[in-house]
Amino acid sequence: MDYKQIVADAVSSVVDGKVSTNDIYAKIEKPKTSANGDLSFPAFILSKELHKSPQVIAQEIVDNINGESFEKVVAAGPYVNFFLDKGKVSHQVIETVLTEEEHFGDNHQGEDRVVTIDMSSPNIAKPMSMGHLRSTVIGNSIAKILTKNGYKPIKDNHLGDWGTQFGKLITAYLKWGSEEDVKRDPIHYLVQYYIRFHKEDEIHPEYDEEAREWFKKLEDGDPEAVHLWKWFREVSLEAFNRTYKKLGVEFDTYNGESFYNEKLQDVVDTLKKDGLLEKSQGASVVDLSDENLNPALILKTDGASLYVTRDIATAIYRDETYHPVMNLYVVGSEQTYYFKQLKAVLKKMGLDSAAGLHHIPFGLITVNGKKLSTRHGNIVLLNEVLDESVKMAKQQIVEKNPDLKDKDRVAEEVGVGAIVFGDLKNSRIDSIDFNLQEQLKFEGETGPYVQYAHARAQSILRKAKSDYINSDNYALTNEDAWEVIKLIQAFPEIVKRANAEFEPSVVAKYSLKLAKAFNKYYAHTKILVEDDELNARLALVKSVSIILKESLRLLGVKAPNEM
Ligand code: ARG
Repeated sequence: MDYKQIVADAVSSVVDGKVSTNDIYAKIEKPKTSANGDLSFPAFILSKELHKSPQVIAQEIVDNINGESFEKVVAAGPYVNFFLDKGKVSHQVIETVLTEEEHFGDNHQGEDRVVTIDMSSPNIAKPMSMGHLRSTVIGNSIAKILTKNGYKPIKDNHLGDWGTQFGKLITAYLKWGSEEDVKRDPIHYLVQYYIRFHKEDEIHPEYDEEAREWFKKLEDGDPEAVHLWKWFREVSLEAFNRTYKKLGVEFDTYNGESFYNEKLQDVVDTLKKDGLLEKSQGASVVDLSDENLNPALILKTDGASLYVTRDIATAIYRDETYHPVMNLYVVGSEQTYYFKQLKAVLKKMGLDSAAGLHHIPFGLITVNGKKLSTRHGNIVLLNEVLDESVKMAKQQIVEKNPDLKDKDRVAEEVGVGAIVFGDLKNSRIDSIDFNLQEQLKFEGETGPYVQYAHARAQSILRKAKSDYINSDNYALTNEDAWEVIKLIQAFPEIVKRANAEFEPSVVAKYSLKLAKAFNKYYAHTKILVEDDELNARLALVKSVSIILKESLRLLGVKAPNEM
């Protein structure tokens, strides 16, 4: 039940089809103050077509409107203001939510079509940093939002498990590494070797040459190189999976860059055949000057492949395997130029994936104002941040609710939820400075705030008699309740908008608004008093708890019943 649609239909029947209902729909506004109604239509946009003054048109609409869903419809100068019938609307909204439950807001626009999501994609032998957190949680949420809109997402973790850096790592390990150390704390020591390599190669440029040779050996299948690489990959994946488990994120595939190694020759052959490959100072490139872009480097002078070579093979593989309508790449905005180049190459090759390629960029993440980088040793380990957050959440819970039974599970859900929500509440593209203390507060724009509103709703329902919601009259006319009802009513639109913009923050911001409106209602209204509206109030509380929980689910955040 979309009330904008009801208004659009009503206006459209009055104007005799001279302007399309869709055009009218698009022009309907939400007035800034409730004194001007719940929805407003600017009649002046019709004066040209109808050859009448806006005031006359506004009055005609008022005189002829079929007012069933409206308390009143008034002309205000060139505007028509619509006041919805609160009792009727609240009844309909609540009834729909209680019937559809968590499926409220589902739609089928995706028609089961596949969308691949290239997400998380950390690099082997390096810790997954807070930087990769964004890709993981944004991708995970976009997948859930796509599913709610009827698409079939495929979450593909494009691990950085191939490339010249493995030549460096092998070189460093053979020089300074210890098997026991790597076994004891793999990522920690592998990173140390990597950092040391970058320090020492400034004085020993010959190390770079060694590293290049090792990578070449790896590409050619040299047993020692392959053995070490496999081992580094394995121990790294174990560490990544611990983090994914904490975050509750799963993938459909882990086809890292190495998976495409054997497909690279085909890429090079195809590019050659299409006449797209050119020699440039010994290297092979695809010229992109017609797109105003720098050439894409496909093979280095020594014939080694590059990141983009592997990405071309990946795009071809995804097309052939999944036939997706879109390929989303959830990767930081520092790679925007790179994805323009990739898209341009795919377009030149005439591949389907070119049109469906969407880079979903996001801003930098800093922690207490500091940028994150592995190379210079300034690393914030995601695992450590998650553990710290859970620990802090536990302290809060112990203070606030000492009798809570399942403290550890709730602390886990609140601590992790705070981090995920703290990321997703921001528009993707914004850079964020992460402050754990802030994100864990139960007040303000935080995950725990929304979780707490949900838990509060659950607690009210627990306190009510077991046979609460025992009639099917959900009419409410109270102003604070009305604000809540209007927000619930908007949820299906929110689901569509988040999908169209690939923007989880749309859902996160919405959930904050709903939690706030609910808290206001709850602060001003006694819910559990025996009167005629008790049933409708409890039904509203239940609806709120359903929508808050579903919003959090779309973000990949849990909603504990008590906290
Ligand atoms: N591993 C890369 C990095 O950490 C991200 C990979 C993104 N995906 C892709 N298909 N290029 O920067």
